[in-house]
Amino acid sequence: MTLLVTNIKQLVGVHEENELLRGKALASLPVIEDAYLLINDGLIAAFGEMKELGAWSDAIEQRIDAGGQFVLPAWCDSHTHLVFAASREEEFVDKLKGMSYEAIAAKGGGILNSANKLAQLSEFELLRMAWSRLQELITLGTGAVEIKSGYGLSVEAELKMLRVIKQLKETSPIPVKATFLGAHTYPLAYRENHQGYIDLIINEMLPVIAAEDLADFTDVFCEKGFFSPGEMETICKAAMQYGLKPKLHVNQLNSIGGLQKAIELNALSVDHLETMTEEDIQALAQSTVIGTLLPSAAFFLRMPYQPARAMIDAGAAVALASDFNPGSSPSGNMNLVVAMSCIGMKMLPEEAINAATINGAFAMELQDELGSIAVGKKANLIFTKPIPSLAYLPYAFGSNLIDKVMIGGEFFS
Ligand code: NIG
Ligand code: FE
Repeated sequence: MTLLVTNIKQLVGVHEENELLRGKALASLPVIEDAYLLINDGLIAAFGEMKELGAWSDAIEQRIDAGGQFVLPAWCDSHTHLVFAASREEEFVDKLKGMSYEAIAAKGGGILNSANKLAQLSEFELLRMAWSRLQELITLGTGAVEIKSGYGLSVEAELKMLRVIKQLKETSPIPVKATFLGAHTYPLAYRENHQGYIDLIINEMLPVIAAEDLADFTDVFCEKGFFSPGEMETICKAAMQYGLKPKLHVNQLNSIGGLQKAIELNALSVDHLETMTEEDIQALAQSTVIGTLLPSAAFFLRMPYQPARAMIDAGAAVALASDFNPGSSPSGNMNLVVAMSCIGMKMLPEEAINAATINGAFAMELQDELGSIAVGKKANLIFTKPIPSLAYLPYAFGSNLIDKVMIGGEFFS
C-alpha cells in the first residue's frame, strides 16, 4: 500500500548520513519545509519539497494532507523497565516525608519490593499490564523501546520477565529490544554471598536466556551497595560469551569507576550519568560508548540533572531515554524527557530531538530501521498539532502537542 503525505510544514530529522551524533553534530537537525513524504508498505519510500512533487503523485490513491503539521521520527526510548507488577507510590510518599532512596532500599523497599510483587504474578498478568503501558507510550509518540528484566532476581522470575518481554516483542506494533538485568540488586538471601548470586546469573540464568533467545543485551546496576565494577565485569564477560552486548547502569548515585569499566568492556551505552566527575566526562567523550541520559529519573529523585551540556561540549555522543520504572521514573513520556533536557540540562531543542531519535535508535542497534527520515526506514512518525516552530515542543512542556502517531505507515489509535 502506498500513502502520500502532503503539505507537511516541516519534515524533521532528514539526516543524509546514518551516523551516531556526537558533540557539535548533535545540534544539526536537518528539516525540509513544506514537504511531502511517500510511504510504501510501512516504509519511507521518498520525500522532498512539495514543489518537487511530480505528476506521478496524481496516481496515488491514499493521500493525507498534513497542512500545518510537523512530522518527526517517533521517539526511540532506549532504556525502560516497563514490565513491573505494581506501582510504588507509597515509597514516593515516604520520600516526600524525608526518607532517602538508599534508606528505602535498605529496608526492603525499592527494587526488592518490586521483585516481591512480581514473584506473585503470572506471566499472563504481567503481559497484560505491560501491554497497556506500551500502548500508552505509543500514543505518546514512542516508536521503539528497550525493556529490561531485573525485577525477578531469581532464575524463575527473571526468565518469567524475559518471556513477557519476548511476547511483547512478537506482538508489539513497534520494535522492542530486550535487556537482561538479573544484576539489578542482590536478593536478600545473597546479601552476604555475592559470588553465589553471580554464579546463579552465570550458570543458571544466562544459558537458558541464550537457548530461548530471550535477550539482546545485558545490564548491571553498578553502584555502591549494589554491584561493584569488578562484579559488573565478571557478569558482562559471561554474558558477552552468549553475544549479549552490555548496556549499563553507571554513575547514578556515585562515581565508582563503573563508567571506565563499561568503556573497557566496549559497552553499547552507559546509562544514567547523574554523577560525573570531570575525568568521567572526558573518558566518555573520548570513547565510542553512547551516554544515555535519563533526566526524568533525576527529576523524580530530586537529584541534580545529568551534566549534558558539559558532555556534549566535550564531544560525547548522548541519547535520551525515559527509564520508565515504578521506583525512579514512573513516567515513560518522552515528550517530557525532551522538555526536561532543554529546561533542566540546557540542551538545545535540536540536540534533544536528535538524542531522543537517531541516537536512541543507535543505543538499541535499531539505527538501520528507525530514528530519522530516510528511505527504507520504518514509517514510525509523530504528526504534531499546529505549532509555530520546533522549539515550541520543549518550550510548551506538559501540553500534548501530538496530533497522531503513525506506526508502520498506519495511524495508531
Ligand atoms: O534505572 N537504578 C536502578 N534501577 C532503576 C530504578 C529501579 C527501581 O527503583 O525500581 C533506575 O533508576
Ligand atoms: Fe534504569
